[in-house]
Amino acid sequence: MCGIVGYIGFREASDVIIKGLKRLEYRGYDSAGIAVLNGDVKVRKGKGKVVNLEKMVAESGAAGTVGIGHTRWATHGEPNDVNAHPHTDGTKNFALVHNGIIENYDALKKELLAKGHVFEGQTDTEVLAHLIEEIQKVAKTDFETAVQMALKQVDGTYGIAIVNKNEPDQIIVARKGSPLLLGIGDDEVFIASDASPIIEYTNKVIYLDDDEMATITREGYQVKTISNIELSKEVHELEMSIEQIEKGGFPHFMLKEIHEQSQTIADCMRGRLMVDQNRIVLGGIEGVLDRLTNAKRLVIAACGTSWHAGLVGEYLLEYIAKLPVEVEYASEFRYREPLIGPDDVMLVISQSGETADTLAAVREARQRGALVLGICNVVGSTIARETDAGVYTHAGPEIGVASTKAFTAQVTVLSMISILLGQRRKVLSEADAAILIKAMSEIPGKVAQITEKQDEIDHISRLFAYAPNFLYLGRSYNFPVALEGALKLKEISYIHAEGYPAAEMKHGPIALIDEHMPVVVLAVTDHTNEKMISNIEEVRARKGRIIAITTESNHDVRNLAEFAITIPDTHDVLTPLLTVIPLQILSYQIAVYRKANVDQPRNLAKSVTVE
Ligand code: AGP
Ligand code: GLU
Repeated sequence: MCGIVGYIGFREASDVIIKGLKRLEYRGYDSAGIAVLNGDVKVRKGKGKVVNLEKMVAESGAAGTVGIGHTRWATHGEPNDVNAHPHTDGTKNFALVHNGIIENYDALKKELLAKGHVFEGQTDTEVLAHLIEEIQKVAKTDFETAVQMALKQVDGTYGIAIVNKNEPDQIIVARKGSPLLLGIGDDEVFIASDASPIIEYTNKVIYLDDDEMATITREGYQVKTISNIELSKEVHELEMSIEQIEKGGFPHFMLKEIHEQSQTIADCMRGRLMVDQNRIVLGGIEGVLDRLTNAKRLVIAACGTSWHAGLVGEYLLEYIAKLPVEVEYASEFRYREPLIGPDDVMLVISQSGETADTLAAVREARQRGALVLGICNVVGSTIARETDAGVYTHAGPEIGVASTKAFTAQVTVLSMISILLGQRRKVLSEADAAILIKAMSEIPGKVAQITEKQDEIDHISRLFAYAPNFLYLGRSYNFPVALEGALKLKEISYIHAEGYPAAEMKHGPIALIDEHMPVVVLAVTDHTNEKMISNIEEVRARKGRIIAITTESNHDVRNLAEFAITIPDTHDVLTPLLTVIPLQILSYQIAVYRKANVDQPRNLAKSVTVE
């Protein structure tokens, strides 16, 4: 599920591949490997980081201008040297890297064992290598046909790349459910799971779709379906720049991305939020606006942080546009025989645009005739391409595994959609729209004021860096922010944290509160203020340690809380765009105090392409 890089051209393949694998490190992985063709297939691989692989290659050499590389996020077989990719077939003629899962590997393996195949490790991937070998032996076909025949026998998902010493001037790749793109240069072609490894060489890319494969040479590529139908693919131009995928002086990508938010929110609104004309223009969904405006309900589906953005969206759309919304975990939606049909509109939210559960929900809903819209960050991603229409968040590449700027951009898009629909559904007056649009235009400046407060938050982070548990409480629009704050903390600092609607505290979690429990409350000046103050009193009465995120004008909360971090006042419904920022900073700083790997937390992958 993690990363593939391949190269064929005139440069040292191992240089390009190792540099590329480093660019993909953010996706999360446990082992890394490379195979280069040079008469033979030279494989170097092992558990651990790409720097270990780099050392291995420097010591033992892997010269050659054709090669493939991989970062593995183990699904089948423990992360060790043997299970690291590439995997070879029994004859060691070819080597294969794979992202995804071969679901019927067990049955295939039994058949292959019966035919005398010997396996070195436990992965599903090694079974695919042996299956190709077996087919080639029995059917006596050319290599490409053997790959095709093997892929027709496998169930599951794959992005694969294969080098073969008997076909020394080509790489074969194929995709089903795991992203792969080709970067087209002059007399060289790059292969990667996303654009970050290739952007420094070329901005011309081809996105492979599911059930497609390509045979790549130095001079070019031929794309066909797994069923051997030739295709002519569109060449896209990437707009990404190399600066966007570097740290730019920050110690971690996550901190860089937290600080970028005043800019990314502004980028997300540029050309869309028309303050002077009091209107919102969202070109990507213009063609479906009538259907969206007249929808009886909207189903939002997403995972993780994007799901939290969806929950904020529910409050926004119901409050501003009076549109009934249901928010679903994409994974649950998928397996529930969902009641969705041609009269419904679904909106999926995904930073990467590659999340398998979300993609499955897209396909399920489309198959049942619903109109499916997307809010994605990665341009050209699978979800962006498979949805009927959508809005890009334009937050730029998000490298830190913990999502930050993507969340605020998603909420920005949802706010814009809500205002647009509120106007079109004639439930939002022009005067109220003007107040909201103006308030939105001021958000970037207010975000910048909060990110400047980093030092102010630092002493709280230091004090609680070793707390074993955290509770996050919020109401209304800020309830999803409480969930997001808790998720951020557990993801990168490994502290157990739970988010709750504040009123639910008394129905159970209150039992946890004592003098050791930090309780982060999101208590802004809105219609829930009085109730939040009562919740703060309840925590104080049990000696819980209150860390309040509150608005500057809220003197009551500031006086009651042991610690208060203030955000500038804004329109109530837009507060999530501000309250989340101190929570991101708090979890970042705590993770740094705990010496955790902030950008690549253990066990996590940036884009979860398995179900
Ligand atoms: C966020 O910090 C997480 N790493 C994770 O929950 C993420 O939001 C989720 O996997 C969904 O990813 P997507 O937005 O790329 O679909
Ligand atoms: N299922 C394969 C394995 O466990 C591939 C994992 C990946 O996508 O990195 O080796």
